[in-house]
Amino acid sequence: MPVPTIDWKGDAETGVAEIVDQTLLPEAFKIVEIRTVEEMADAIKGLRVRGAPAIGIAGALGAVLGMQGVKDAGFDEFFAKLTDVTNHLASARPTAVNLFWALERMRRIARDNEGKPTGQMKQILLDEALKIRDEDKRSCRDIGRHGAQFIKDGDTVLTHCNAGGLATADYGTALAVIFRAHEDGKRISVYADETRPLLQGARLTTWEMKTAGIDVTLICDNMAGYVMKQGRINLVVVGADRIAANGDAANKIGTYSVAVLAKEHGVPFYVAAPSSTFDLSMTSGDEIPIEERDGREISHSFGRRIAPDGVKIYNPAFDVTPAEYISAVITERGVIKPVNEENIRSLLPNDKTR
Ligand code: MRU
Repeated sequence: MPVPTIDWKGDAETGVAEIVDQTLLPEAFKIVEIRTVEEMADAIKGLRVRGAPAIGIAGALGAVLGMQGVKDAGFDEFFAKLTDVTNHLASARPTAVNLFWALERMRRIARDNEGKPTGQMKQILLDEALKIRDEDKRSCRDIGRHGAQFIKDGDTVLTHCNAGGLATADYGTALAVIFRAHEDGKRISVYADETRPLLQGARLTTWEMKTAGIDVTLICDNMAGYVMKQGRINLVVVGADRIAANGDAANKIGTYSVAVLAKEHGVPFYVAAPSSTFDLSMTSGDEIPIEERDGREISHSFGRRIAPDGVKIYNPAFDVTPAEYISAVITERGVIKPVNEENIRSLLPNDKTR
């Protein structure tokens, strides 16, 4: 069940990006046009488009938008502008490496084509952005294929945040594993953590599961331990925003708590992510930059103030799960198990595209 999370309409010179505005779900499913690089950076910052692979694609298309006004420039001028545009997009969110990976691909394809006329360069940038999107579609399918083996007929899966179609170009990473098991005819149930403070689990994951006709039960984040203790959960599968060379994985805040609970209760804990989510320049998760967001996301929830004015707030958007808590990482290239640097490096050779 692919969702048209992010797309492009028109040519390189005058076209626009289209995104599903995820802040409106589940009340409204609305596709909105993004016309400028500033609008794209704001959409990424404001989580109108979100999820690691999706913000990589959004960044790449944002770079195309940012270059539309450039006329007959020499390479140095063109590349200086592209650097400004990609730096602006890179400042939108710090944790998901897919954004920086995609922006670097856009700069690299421009460098590789030095000397071509401006109009052709713009087309080359659009082609590269759409290639990133199409590769992500294939990755989702391959992750689903590799991961479905871990789900048995009759299993109940817990997931955290949203690593589904809305977070990618196709049907997700963690949710791809669930979708594929469902397509294979396995009878499965899902528990979705609501994922405070921005409720990606409640708003987005349950919406995707219901749309696909998969049995889903919503719980508050603080209920995960109890449902595991009751023996209701057979496995956990989550996505990731950045995976270090040793396998430590950053994902939505609360993921680490779920991993610790899973270990305590003997429940396998899987991370599903494409190779664009690995950052082999970081030796461990301690180096991963963790986004801190506005305290209002915590103090003002459910449409009203829920904490006293002036209260101190700490709002990290992600946490890091150490590799030893992760049973396996499911990628489009295959499964990494056990999760350690040697296995990661042998599955993901340090090629030019990562
Ligand atoms: O802040 P968000 O909603 O962008 O956080 C998203 C997540 O943490 C996802 O689990 C992760 O990006 C993987 S998406 C396939």
